[in-house]
Amino acid sequence: MIVAIDGPAASGKSTTAKIVGSRLNYLYIDTGAMYRAMALKAFLSKVDYEDRGAVCALLPETSIVQVIDQKTGDTKTLLDGRNVSHDIRTPEISKGVTAVCEIDEVRTKLVELQREMAGKGDVILDGRDIGTVVFPDADFKFFMVADLDIRAERRLKELEEKGIEADITEVRKDIERRDIRDSSRSNSPLKPASDSILVDTSVMSIEEQAEFIISRIKGLK
Ligand code: DC
Repeated sequence: MIVAIDGPAASGKSTTAKIVGSRLNYLYIDTGAMYRAMALKAFLSKVDYEDRGAVCALLPETSIVQVIDQKTGDTKTLLDGRNVSHDIRTPEISKGVTAVCEIDEVRTKLVELQREMAGKGDVILDGRDIGTVVFPDADFKFFMVADLDIRAERRLKELEEKGIEADITEVRKDIERRDIRDSSRSNSPLKPASDSILVDTSVMSIEEQAEFIISRIKGLK
């Protein structure tokens, strides 16, 4: 079973996918975290995010893996064997990832890894192009949207909970900027698959979002 959840930044995809994955016992793959890990690699290597050639040169020596933390059940992101789940959430990486994820070679490598990971059983993946490019034949496709101000508030809260300092105006601007760039890129732009189910999470609680998706998967709605 393959469940795809796409949508703009901070629309509730990962929190919902994590809950659905754990309740249904599906592997949860956070594809945004994989692009963020590649941006972190560029940052640590002192490579300009916009320098396509230099970012591509890092690819052969880069390992990005998602594993389940046996203690918490959460998906952890490993970059070259190191747990970077926290480091990839900083405002610096949120800025850099937009350029890195536009590079064709980066997308080809990460999509290949996503398909490999998904080949191991039931999976739920969240991202921007899962239903359109990575798994156009997914069993279920959801496209989550929410009001920009609500998304900014949610993202700020998430960052604060992780101990990362941020400012609401900056967070809002970053989300808006990423949405525009993610939607307008030529390779795998952010857009709903024609057969996706639209979920507006603006006035839904996390529990309602998870329940909505689970009931669709179970054929209850
Ligand atoms: O979901 P997120 O905000 O952590 O994703 C980080 C960036 O990665 C986002 O700005 C767009 C990009 N991304 C992508 O291009 N394709 C995906 N499947 C997932 C994320």
